[in-house]
Amino acid sequence: MQNNIHSMMLGTGVAIPEKILTNLDLEKIVDTNDEWIRERTGIKVRHVADDKLQNSDLASEAARNALADARMNAEDIDTIIVATVTGDVTFPSTACYVQQKIGAVKAAAFDIQATCSGFLFALSIADGFIASGKSKNTLIVGSELLTRIVDWKDRSTCVLFGDAAGAAVISSANGDGRGVLGTFIKTDGSLGHLLWMPGGGTRFPADVAVSENLNNIKMEGPEVFKAAVTAMGDAATHILDKTGLTPDDIKLLIPHQANTRIINATAKRLKLPEEKVYVNIQEYGNTSAASIPVALHEAKGRGLLEPGDACLMVAFGGGFTWGSAIVRV
Ligand code: UT7
Repeated sequence: MQNNIHSMMLGTGVAIPEKILTNLDLEKIVDTNDEWIRERTGIKVRHVADDKLQNSDLASEAARNALADARMNAEDIDTIIVATVTGDVTFPSTACYVQQKIGAVKAAAFDIQATCSGFLFALSIADGFIASGKSKNTLIVGSELLTRIVDWKDRSTCVLFGDAAGAAVISSANGDGRGVLGTFIKTDGSLGHLLWMPGGGTRFPADVAVSENLNNIKMEGPEVFKAAVTAMGDAATHILDKTGLTPDDIKLLIPHQANTRIINATAKRLKLPEEKVYVNIQEYGNTSAASIPVALHEAKGRGLLEPGDACLMVAFGGGFTWGSAIVRV
């Protein structure tokens, strides 16, 4: 450990379903159009998992790819954290299935549920586990099959979401200055009703949920939009202050991909030029907990982040939850 850096990101990986749903395809399902979706959100296409695929299949594929990138075996992992709102079943956790599917026989595994901020919550927990000595190698995964829980009759939500998984191996820092420089996570539970899926839990069990159409995402878009712009800007400035960095020190901003207008507002507040902001919403839509690790992996693959570069990640989601992190990759 050096300079209070406890953990570092050794590898990343993704899993993206092949099938694509375009805006034109959606025009045949609901009263929408390509122009509205692109202008109001930035989305052109989203990926959709085949019916037989489970969340844990996608999460395991991303996990295996992250392990390969980290040059590590599944047996080296002692903790698995899966961030998701679309787990395979109510219990056990999706992380349990991932543990079995990848053969991480020495790992304790659990899910966390922090909606679109889930990956940053998982990163914050992993960093804390490593700092306290509870873990040496933690696998964190953001994995979602959101197309399974949208209301295909509701144009205000069904055009927004997609399926994907992204994973990262977080290990003890090696003292070379790279690693997690800081994390910040926050919640305001009073606003949960503005973005939620009411059905399927104990409050509205599955049979009630189906008969009353509660088994899908409900969102007050404009309210969520306003809160996201404020919270993501606040979270970004907070973590810059906490780590003593300025926007000039940041090589790349990786924001949660919910809407290009939210991303642009966040970048504007930080006075970051376009080339320092990673946007891939046009290709995936909103993939909730998967959006940041997918973007991070892509940005690395495209050479936009070299070893030692500082990457600022920021997210906002239902709950409300929000958070940020700065990692020297
Ligand atoms: O990931 C977690 C956090 N999630 C977010 O951050 C999402 C935040 N919210 C948003 O990104 C935006 O609010 C949306 C993209 C969801 C909606 O965009 P908006 O600019 O806030 O639109 P709106 O809800 O105010 O609706 C404007 C109009 C309405 O029509 P009228 O009442 O003006 O006639 C809607 O009915 O657009 C209509 N509309 C649509 N039109 C065509 C809503 N959805 C669609 C659609 N196609 N898919």
